[in-house]
Amino acid sequence: VKPESMSLYSVSAAATPEQEAVCIFGTGDLGRSLGQRLLQSGYRLVYGSRRPHSCGPIPPGAQVMSHEIAARSASLVFVCVHREHYDFLETLAPHLKGKVLVDVSNNLKKNMYPEANAEFLQRLIPGAHVVKAFNTLSAWALQNGPSDANRQVYLCGNSPEAKQAVAEIATKLGFNVQDRGSLSAARELEDFPLQLFPEWRLPMRLTIGLTAFFFFYLLVRDVIFAYVDQGKDNSFRIMVSLANKVFPIVSLILLSLCYLPGVIAAFLQLYRGTKYKRFPDWLDRWMLCRKQLGLIALALASLHVLYTLIIPIRYYVRFRLAANTISQIKENKTSVFDTTMGWRTDSYYSMGILGFGLYLLLGIASLPSVSNALSWREFSFIQSKLGYLTLFFCTFHTYLYGWDTFLFISYYKWYTPPGYMLCLVVPSVVLLLKLLLLLPCVDKSLTRIRQGWERTDPE
Ligand code: HEM
Repeated sequence: VKPESMSLYSVSAAATPEQEAVCIFGTGDLGRSLGQRLLQSGYRLVYGSRRPHSCGPIPPGAQVMSHEIAARSASLVFVCVHREHYDFLETLAPHLKGKVLVDVSNNLKKNMYPEANAEFLQRLIPGAHVVKAFNTLSAWALQNGPSDANRQVYLCGNSPEAKQAVAEIATKLGFNVQDRGSLSAARELEDFPLQLFPEWRLPMRLTIGLTAFFFFYLLVRDVIFAYVDQGKDNSFRIMVSLANKVFPIVSLILLSLCYLPGVIAAFLQLYRGTKYKRFPDWLDRWMLCRKQLGLIALALASLHVLYTLIIPIRYYVRFRLAANTISQIKENKTSVFDTTMGWRTDSYYSMGILGFGLYLLLGIASLPSVSNALSWREFSFIQSKLGYLTLFFCTFHTYLYGWDTFLFISYYKWYTPPGYMLCLVVPSVVLLLKLLLLLPCVDKSLTRIRQGWERTDPE
């Protein structure tokens, strides 16, 4: 025997794992993709089909049998069949007794049926151990293998051994497993694929609401007021001037709303004297969508920066500049350089730029690939300390932009304050409350509470 063939033989022998049979009911897209991955991971595969001889293409290496024979040949069966067709399983109940049945089904709408598909399956075949799993993955994701975005397999079921068996398969296929508890969690798992960006819903609604409010508020002040009061058509301002007010205003409010729940939580802990009491639901939900709020705020701030960049090339701005210069020449007048104005404008630009720079840093640090590489301390330093600094710079930018305008009655058209004054309310409150929390005596109590100390009220 040649030495090369010896080594070849030993490699192929070692690469063949002990083949364990797994059964799949259903040869649709999901059944085929799942089967392909199971075969690639070294499982022996049998399909159960109503028409074993005419069930269409199946992955090479798998066998197709009748449901009954297929069920007998494996201890674990994936049910890749729509819920409407579960009835046939009832007739197989004796053959499925003691077996693990994996329900991968989904529905087209929420609350289509009174009970979850997996619970229905368990009711149909009480002798089997039903596990809900793999339903959040698409056939496409299964076929292409796990990627960063869909690594997670959620499962739930009443039998720990059955869940263990499914978890082992999922791990072998390259997925991360998250156990969500008993079969009563199946409804929640079945709702997962029906949700469209759930954590973005609240921030998006808030953004749309605030944008609509400020758009109409500023439309009244900047366009309708000019038309009614002076008969001037300022409607062209909608495209750039109005947009460049609405976007930064909403951005600043959203940024401050990222930090307000943290401040409220701190005061709540101080008031309660413990960190072991749950926060109210609304505060929990608010805290959970801070990242999304921050990312939308960053997108709007970026729009503001882009709109600001085009100010010098706007026809309206160039026309006003030229008209001003010509009138000075005609009247033989030279306007003197106002140093205060120089300071004011440069300062608010500078604050804006610093704020935007930090804004970008916060956005980058919230990307999973970056945040996963940071320790908890580093992450909280960026998101909290630098976050407040960002809020401070952006708020200060707006204050400097407003300067002393709040003193002049002419800025309050129809008794309404300009948009930037309104948008300063929440950020100023957040920064003020944060400042209070930084006072040494308050900070000391809060640190003690967060380290586990509890205030015991006298009886
Ligand atoms: C207003 C520049 C970043 C919030 C302005 C204005 C300019 C400007 C020129 C006046 C616009 C006008 O005359 O209509 C900049 C620059 C930035 C920057 C150069 C950075 C590169 C930011 C950031 C925020 C922000 C990060 C935070 C969200 C505001 C607000 C106003 C404003 C609220 C007042 C809008 C109004 O009602 O007129 N900024 N900005 N800015 N900026 Fe910025």
